Amino acid sequence: MPARLFLSSGDLVADRRFDFARDLQLKGDLVAAADLLAQATELAPGFASAWFTLGEIRERLGEREAAIEAFRKAQVADPEDRHGASLQLMLLGAERLSAMPQAYVRALFDQYAPKFEAALVDDLGYRGPALLFKGVLAARRAVRKPAFFKRAIDLGCGTGLAATTFAKQVDHFIGIDLSPRMIEKARLTGLYGRLEVTDMLEGLRGRPDASADLVLAADAMVYLADLGPVLQEVKRVLVPGGLVAFTAETHGGDGVILGEGLRYAHGAPYVRASIREAGLILAQFEELSARNEDNAPVPGLVLVAAKT
Ligand SMILES: C[S@@+](CC[C@H](N)C(=O)[O-])C[C@H]1O[C@@H](n2cnc3c(N)ncnc32)[C@H](O)[C@@H]1O
Repeated sequence: MPARLFLSSGDLVADRRFDFARDLQLKGDLVAAADLLAQATELAPGFASAWFTLGEIRERLGEREAAIEAFRKAQVADPEDRHGASLQLMLLGAERLSAMPQAYVRALFDQYAPKFEAALVDDLGYRGPALLFKGVLAARRAVRKPAFFKRAIDLGCGTGLAATTFAKQVDHFIGIDLSPRMIEKARLTGLYGRLEVTDMLEGLRGRPDASADLVLAADAMVYLADLGPVLQEVKRVLVPGGLVAFTAETHGGDGVILGEGLRYAHGAPYVRASIREAGLILAQFEELSARNEDNAPVPGLVLVAAKT
């Protein structure tokens, strides 16, 4: 996991209280840690990291209402919500399901970037790009077309693992990602003609109609609550006959839920409906997992859809 985000309070004494509290938290003395964090927030009421950590500890202690209050204070202290307090509030059922704060995603992956590939590929057995590759080949085979594409867009491109997998299939890659550090890594692959640090929906909106033959999103839709707007933009930027291929995490029911791992899981009926409502035609649908968690495959889907 990436290093924990810390936003200084600007008050040395409060920051020191926070450090001690973290030590105590890691040693399992949650009550003493909560006490120190409460002191830190008294000294520095706008101390987002202390409020957020206090929220986590209150929750572990079973103090739901106090946890909610602390997470709300963390949101007020950092309106961009780099810690993702709103996600904790969603998990606690105190806020309805909504989009992930962009600043949280950016902070998470900026911290993750240096060890991302080792953590994902080696530790979690990540296989998203390989699954997309198989799905795209199968979709092309089914319509008797070669799997070569002039222009591809890689949504949530990260360090460039999908472009690496598709390198021989694609002439020109555009990578879009919220995290500047992940984009720096992607640039080092030399595989992208263009890289944009932006939200994937915004990035797609900046592309002309019918300007891409293939759109990929490997392990990126798990950070979107609502797949509809992105799939609609994907349809607009694809040429007729173009493909979109993406992985998703899923669950037994319908609709969208936020998992404990702070990634959205999309029910299969919801994903099918989103593809249909975007005006795309489902070409491949497989129940396959892109990664493991606790040494078990996370339930997943691999989807390929076409624009007619
Ligand atoms: C788990 S990584 C996967 C990276 C890459 N696709 C791969 O297969 O290795 C998810 C990436 O999606 C990016 N991301 C998440 N939400 C995003 C959004 N709304 N717009 C653009 N990028 C996003 C993150 O910054 C991160 O780099």
